[in-house]
Amino acid sequence: MAAKTTRTLPILLLSLLLLASGGASTPIDTFLFGGCSQLKYTPGSPYESSLNSLLTSLVNSAPFSLYNNFTSQSLPPYSSSAAPTLYGLYQCRGDLTPPDCRSCVARAVTQLATLCPDATGGALQLDACFVRYDNASFLGVQDKSVVMKKCGASLGYGPGASARRDAVLDYVAGSGGGGAYYKAYRVGGSGDVYAVAQCVQDLSGSQCQDCVAEAVGLLKSNCAAAAWGDVFLGKCYARFSEGGAHSGSGGHGENNDDEIEKTLAILIGLIAGVALLIVFLSFIAKLCAKGKGTTFFSYSSLSLLFSNMLPFPFFSLSL
Ligand SMILES: *[C@@H]1O[C@H](CO)[C@@H](O)[C@H](O)[C@H]1NC(C)=O
Ligand SMILES: *[C@@H]1O[C@H](CO)[C@@H](O)[C@H](O)[C@H]1NC(C)=O
Repeated sequence: MAAKTTRTLPILLLSLLLLASGGASTPIDTFLFGGCSQLKYTPGSPYESSLNSLLTSLVNSAPFSLYNNFTSQSLPPYSSSAAPTLYGLYQCRGDLTPPDCRSCVARAVTQLATLCPDATGGALQLDACFVRYDNASFLGVQDKSVVMKKCGASLGYGPGASARRDAVLDYVAGSGGGGAYYKAYRVGGSGDVYAVAQCVQDLSGSQCQDCVAEAVGLLKSNCAAAAWGDVFLGKCYARFSEGGAHSGSGGHGENNDDEIEKTLAILIGLIAGVALLIVFLSFIAKLCAKGKGTTFFSYSSLSLLFSNMLPFPFFSLSL
C-alpha cells in the first residue's frame, strides 16, 4: 500500500507544478467564463468528428482573421445527412496580432474540450477571445442576455464624480459607425479612464450598436462608483477601468490577481518540495529496511539530508 502511494505521488506533484507554471499565463489567456449545453453527444459518433473538424477550422482560421464562422456541412469529412449540422465562431479582440489571435483561440478550444466534455454546445471567453459552437444556429442572432457582470472596489465618489468615466463610455458606445463597415471593436480613454467594447462580428452594425449600448448602460448603472467594471452579454461586451485598475490585467485592482498567483505558485512549490522530500525519504527508508532490516540513520542525519536538499529549483520555476 505504501509502495502505491510512493508511485502515484510524483505524478500528482508533477501536475501541481504544471498548474503552478500555468498560473503565470499572459493576460490574453485569462479565463473569464464558459458554459456548456446540457445535452451530450455520443462519443465516437459523427457529431464528434463534425465538432472536431469545426473546432480545427476555427483555430486554423485565427491567424488570418480576427473573426470567422463555420458550419460543419462545409467542412471535411463532408459527412452525409447522418451528421448533424454544427455552427461555430470565434472572435478575437480587435487589437490582437494574428499570432496572438491564433494562440488565444487555440487555448479557448482546448479549454472548451475540458470544460464541456461531449456537450452538444459550448461557449468560452478568455480575456482576448471568444469561441462558441452549437448544433442550433446562433449565427447573426442578437443575444443581449447577461453572461457576466463584475464591478471593482468602490472609489468612494460623490454623485456625478464619475462624469468623465461616463463620457468615455458614451464615446465607446457611440463610436461604432454604421453600415457594413461598422467598428466591432472600440476603445476610448481620457486621463486614467480607459474603456473598451467588442461585438461578435456576426452581428450587423445596428445589432452591435444595440448590444454595446445595453452593456454600457448596465456598466453605468451597476458599477457607478467602481474602479473597474465588466459587462459581458451574449454577443458583446463593454469594460472600463480607472487609474490602471482592472480585474484581469494585473493592475492595482481589487483582487490583485498577480500577487495571488505568485503566492499560490510559491505555496504549491513549497508543498511539492516537502512532499517530494517525504517520498524520497520513505523510499530511502524502505531501501534500508529491505537491505538491513534496520534503519541505520538517526534523526540528525535525516535533517542534514533535508538541509542539503532544500534549495529546490521550484521558486525560479514557478515565478
Ligand atoms: C442537437 O443535438 C442533440 C444531440 O444529438 C439533439 O438532441 C438536439 O435535438 C440537437 N438540436 C438541434 C437544434 O439540432
Ligand atoms: C459566415 O462566414 C461566411 C463565409 O466567411 C460569411 O459569408 C458570412 O457572412 C458569415 N456569417 C455571419 C453571420 O457572420
